[in-house]
Amino acid sequence: MLKKGTKCRICKNKGKNNKAVVFLSHHRLALCKEHFIEWFEKRVEKTIKEFKMFKKSERILVAVSGGKDSLALWNVLYKLGYEADGLYIDLGIGDYSENSKILAKNFADRIKRKLHIVSLKEQLYTIPTIKDFTNRPACSSCGVVKRYYMNRYAKELGYSVVATGHNLDDETAVLFGNTLQWDLKYLSRQYPVLLEEEGFVRKVKPLCKITEKESAIYSVFNNIEYIEYECPFSEGASSIEYKTLLNQLEEKHPGTKLKFYSEFLKKIYPIFKELQKEDKISLMKCRICGEPSYSEVCGVCRLKMLVDKKVKTN
Ligand code: AMP
Ligand code: FES
Ligand code: ZN
Ligand code: ZN
Repeated sequence: MLKKGTKCRICKNKGKNNKAVVFLSHHRLALCKEHFIEWFEKRVEKTIKEFKMFKKSERILVAVSGGKDSLALWNVLYKLGYEADGLYIDLGIGDYSENSKILAKNFADRIKRKLHIVSLKEQLYTIPTIKDFTNRPACSSCGVVKRYYMNRYAKELGYSVVATGHNLDDETAVLFGNTLQWDLKYLSRQYPVLLEEEGFVRKVKPLCKITEKESAIYSVFNNIEYIEYECPFSEGASSIEYKTLLNQLEEKHPGTKLKFYSEFLKKIYPIFKELQKEDKISLMKCRICGEPSYSEVCGVCRLKMLVDKKVKTN
């Protein structure tokens, strides 16, 4: 909690007396608006460099959902002088998709960068249709479909890197879930950079050390309009439960999330990565669409076949 009258640490060091408006308890740092924005952008830049995510000479495709994280990320990359365009995947989830698309478009206009839009309705089926015709939870099909189109469009449009807005809360919730299950396969891939390989572009998460709250504050301070409600299918997802639990811990012991995540990256991930090398499954090309796949037919083509069949018999 920010105590009344607290001064911004940076301003104080410079002999100024500006009041702090944000208190970052896990960094024990009180900051004014200007210095919070500066802190945020420097932290993202440091993360990009720490994990060697990309260089200034590369073309970056930011996967933009219309939410605070991906729009904040796009703004930071733009301000840092990276060549970053956006990709919005219209999932066809009623008002949620319509409204988030408008916000993504408005932001692209504001920074005068290109926003590519992929419509699932035209390319495949909308998420609600896929949900109705398969027995799978919407979120799991949605994850497969989003990853597929992000990768495919980045390649087709000539971008070498896809950047997503996954934040520290997302990463710790996933890490917590994977640890509870001791899911070695996922643990060995949970890193903020997934290097390019045959058919796959590089994927990076420059906000992995930024909390959800920090990216919301950054967006508000920069007058970025973002979609404030969650996707209607996210209700009851276990990741939300894990986030709540981790936030309870964080409140009592500031720094818990960052420590859990960064110590995993430092101490545990290297061990799992070695394990992964031993039982690496070889990649093939999907016999239908030609995209990289771990089985003869990729996940998206399988979904499509399943829905095609159900639609015909209906
Ligand atoms: P989520 O999976 O909804 O937690 O989103 C994680 C990240 O995936 C976001 O920060 C975006 O970078 C990206 N993303 C999610 N939904 C979309 C979408 N509809 N279009 C493009 N990128 C998206
Ligand atoms: Fe994909 Fe909710 S955003 S199911
Ligand atoms: Zn200040
Ligand atoms: Zn395929």
